[in-house]
Amino acid sequence: MNTVFYDPKQTEDQRRKLIYHGQIMVLAPTPGSLELCAFAKQLLFEGFGGLDPQVAHETMQVEKYVEILAAVKPKFIHHPESKRLLRAIARETGHDLEKTYLDTPRMRSAAPHDYLRYGIAYAFHPHRDTWYSAPFQQVNWWMPVFDFESGNAMAFHPKYWDTPVRNGSRKYNYQDWNEGPRQNASAHIKSDTREQPKPEEEVELDPQLRIVCPVGSMIQFSGAQLHSTVPNRTGTTRFSIDFRTVNLDDVRSGRGAHNIDSECTGTAMVDYMRGSDMAPMPEEVLIKHMAPGHFGKIKAT
Ligand SMILES: [Fe+2]
Repeated sequence: MNTVFYDPKQTEDQRRKLIYHGQIMVLAPTPGSLELCAFAKQLLFEGFGGLDPQVAHETMQVEKYVEILAAVKPKFIHHPESKRLLRAIARETGHDLEKTYLDTPRMRSAAPHDYLRYGIAYAFHPHRDTWYSAPFQQVNWWMPVFDFESGNAMAFHPKYWDTPVRNGSRKYNYQDWNEGPRQNASAHIKSDTREQPKPEEEVELDPQLRIVCPVGSMIQFSGAQLHSTVPNRTGTTRFSIDFRTVNLDDVRSGRGAHNIDSECTGTAMVDYMRGSDMAPMPEEVLIKHMAPGHFGKIKAT
């Protein structure tokens, strides 16, 4: 059974344990998360030349729209302000920054209908992040940049918390993906030929759980949770921010979510940086999480 905890009073350590068991947290907005959303909005409005980014698709050719997102999204991801605010959020929500590693925040968009579902605005099929080389200690964070509705939300598929799905993760290696297909997201407008781990059997999308929460709220869930992008049939583009955190003690001890169907290789942990000083994950941890012979490859990325 999955429970959603709204504005939980548990400590961060207790919350993590619950998340590893399939529970979902909705943290109330903090000054840092509101500032991060305001910053994302500012970049979007600038990028779209003052047009409301939520409805810009109504008056814009998709190629131009892609060009704008291809500039705005990396700007947001790599901006020092985004990194500063992420650390502020971790602090505000009770994380020990010596033990907590963060990756960079991503800006996502889900445009209505078939306007743009690929490449730079990939509409995610049902997946677990652990099919993409995420560690089982990974906590996913998702927050809306604008008010949104159920029709352009993200969905969880709780039945699959403990039900395996036959999937293509055995063909996925995070380091190989970074060297190749990830580089050319904005070239994929009408279709997406980049091979990603997908379900290889029919997934029952219902019953599904969608959480609608205010701007700056943060939905936290395990990287092992099956989730997807809801096909957007509203008239409005949804913009959201997501990022991930990992606790080093848990990585070392192996405490985390269960693995019921992930077979990928490589590790996404090369992307995480320590909250206190942005140092990378300790080498010995990366080595431990790689198959023999992979570490040279990690170091090269
Ligand atoms: Fe995901």
